Amino acid sequence: MLNLAALLPDIGSGDEVIPPSQTFVSTPNPRRHLWIVDDATRKIMMGCKGRGKAIDDLSRFSSREKKDVVLFKGGAVLANDPKLVLHARSTYYLHDAGLTEENRTERENMLRSLTPLLLCPTCRRPDGKMRLEEFRAGEDGHVSDGVLICSNCRTWYPIERDVLEFVPPTLFDDTDLSAFCNRYAERLDGLNLKKPAASSSELYVDQIKQREHFDLYAEGAPGFSDYTTIPFIQATSTRYVRLAGTRLTDPGAWLLDIGCGTGALSSPLMKKCTVIAFDVSRKAVRRANEDARARGLLGTGTFFVGDGSYLPFVSSSFDHVNTLGALHHLPNPKEVIADIQRILKPGGVHFAIENNKSAFRKIFDLLMMIRPLWIEEAGTHPLISRQMVLDWTKGLPVRVDSETSVFLPPQLLNPLGKFAIPAVELSDRLFSLIPIWNRHGGQLIFSITKAEK
Ligand SMILES: C[S@@+](CC[C@H](N)C(=O)[O-])C[C@H]1O[C@@H](n2cnc3c(N)ncnc32)[C@H](O)[C@@H]1O
Ligand SMILES: [Zn+2]
Repeated sequence: MLNLAALLPDIGSGDEVIPPSQTFVSTPNPRRHLWIVDDATRKIMMGCKGRGKAIDDLSRFSSREKKDVVLFKGGAVLANDPKLVLHARSTYYLHDAGLTEENRTERENMLRSLTPLLLCPTCRRPDGKMRLEEFRAGEDGHVSDGVLICSNCRTWYPIERDVLEFVPPTLFDDTDLSAFCNRYAERLDGLNLKKPAASSSELYVDQIKQREHFDLYAEGAPGFSDYTTIPFIQATSTRYVRLAGTRLTDPGAWLLDIGCGTGALSSPLMKKCTVIAFDVSRKAVRRANEDARARGLLGTGTFFVGDGSYLPFVSSSFDHVNTLGALHHLPNPKEVIADIQRILKPGGVHFAIENNKSAFRKIFDLLMMIRPLWIEEAGTHPLISRQMVLDWTKGLPVRVDSETSVFLPPQLLNPLGKFAIPAVELSDRLFSLIPIWNRHGGQLIFSITKAEK
């Protein structure tokens, strides 16, 4: 559609990467219409030398132009190799109503777009760059197999059947890694890459415990049936997706979901903006990825294997970060909360849901003893209170807002079947009006907003 090679001289060459906050705009006549636009202000940062209209606001496109305008989100690489230009984060077509997603096959480039935002989880050098080497493309042209290589410590991370394993080598599965090394022996040799060596697993006991537990759920092992299908979880998930979704008003925004599990609360949000999601459970990530691919959602999102106790991302990378029932599984929630603020852009929001440390919690615990609904494997802080969040964020330039949810125990909600959904909505509204109750719901819903400057 675009004669990119012809465009390049106008906009310079080299390795310029469009930051996530900007959009690369082109129309079918790119010589006349080519800009890089700042997403927040919608102002043109850089235009081509052609006879393009003097446009300083995207809303000034005519309705005919709006049908054809292609926006490559930040991350597009402007380089001499025209192929690289297509490494855009995602492509949107501009319609009268604003930016909407279309043309999925063209946009299955998420791993390529994500690479500039990643930091090596092994050496953790903030100035280290990750390089993507692609071995095999999937049917839509997306990266199916390949490696990410750290420019600093040379540790490499396999990508196999669409899923990146972005964890320190100790957390790799040795059998799978050996098979990968055999399959791609020649390519790896050519890149001078040896099989990464594991260090002491003692450093990762918490992560390994969590992974084993959630792998069992993801594969539906005996005694670990999928709890996400029970009416109570369906009802709360519906509510949380709605709450998380209402704040996602900009389709150009990037959201990170930490501890995404099988993607039940990540995939629905891929219709609203770009979603990068990861989890320590390899089996959960694989399920999430396959499910999202089957539903045609991978144009605006990707799932990878990662450890949330260290966030392997460049600072100020995301507009939103979600931790939905994830912080209480981590060994260091306080540090992670602070690190989330580092990777958020100014004004970005960390949205979280956690089991609330409330005086009434004991009723729930007792009911779970009598009639367990799932097996809990929490980290160091199984319950999190508003006060803990305030203490953990003390001194950070943030605003904390919170409310509570779930005033009726799951054992009471489950028999209601699909009516559990309105029951949770209704009881939440009702109880939150009663001052003595409103802080004591079973779930703490909080947001930590990063200051603008
Ligand atoms: C209660 S589940 C929540 C899943 C998902 N957010 C949802 O609401 O459906 C907690 C998730 O945290 C993940 N987890 C535990 N420790 C983790 C770690 N160190 N890094 C990343 N994810 C982790 C688990 O594998 C599990 O999928
Ligand atoms: Zn490294």
